[in-house]
Amino acid sequence: MEKFQNVTILDHPLIRHKVAILRSETTSTKEFRELVEEITMLMAYESFKDIPTKEILVKTPLEICTERAVVENSVAIIPVLRAGLGMVGGVHKLFPTAKVGHIGLYRDEETLEPKEYYLKLPDGIDKMTAVVLDPMLATGGSASAAIAAIKARGAKSIKLMSIIAAPQGVKTVAAAHPDVQIYVATLDRTLNDKGYILPGLGDAGDRMFGTK
Ligand code: PRP
Ligand code: URA
Repeated sequence: MEKFQNVTILDHPLIRHKVAILRSETTSTKEFRELVEEITMLMAYESFKDIPTKEILVKTPLEICTERAVVENSVAIIPVLRAGLGMVGGVHKLFPTAKVGHIGLYRDEETLEPKEYYLKLPDGIDKMTAVVLDPMLATGGSASAAIAAIKARGAKSIKLMSIIAAPQGVKTVAAAHPDVQIYVATLDRTLNDKGYILPGLGDAGDRMFGTK
């Protein structure tokens, strides 16, 4: 795949180990949810490395020192319903004050076009870093539409975190939104004729919520 400046593939042994279990068809719904949260936490370590911090004073048992703390109200995470919901806890474990917006999108099964059915963003999104969460980046239609909807509400600094991506999806989002930083845990081979990622993990929403 051609190289895109704004795409980071977090090819880390601990992440790949968990992705391997996540993919397996024998992984239970419970394990699936736990793994999505753990992988998101590991990914957030890298993708949140440039979030704003401020200097604070801390009194240790020995003396007072200056330290850095993350700035509250500076980051909004925006899960794409449904599957993105499973990533929220992973970010919140590291950054409990991150605000949460929601965007509801589903892919039309015939056309694969995303259909928006819900959008609620935190006040002040125009001043925050907005981090879109969706474990699957397949054609890239859903992520591109989510990013466009968030931009239309004023967001200027946007990141996308996906666990498994197809080259087609990365290319689509990077071309449509060159200003967006994209973080993926692993880049898969391709899509099948129904728009599923190969080798992928199947339908993330169904595996997460046990709906099939
Ligand atoms: C899945 C996934 C992404 C989208 C990716 O959601 O969670 O949002 O497909 O595909 P794309 O890159 O081709 O747009 P789905 O549409 O299955 O909705 P669901 O989470 O409600 O099941
Ligand atoms: N959505 C999923 O949940 N899985 C895929 O492989 C593609 C889109």
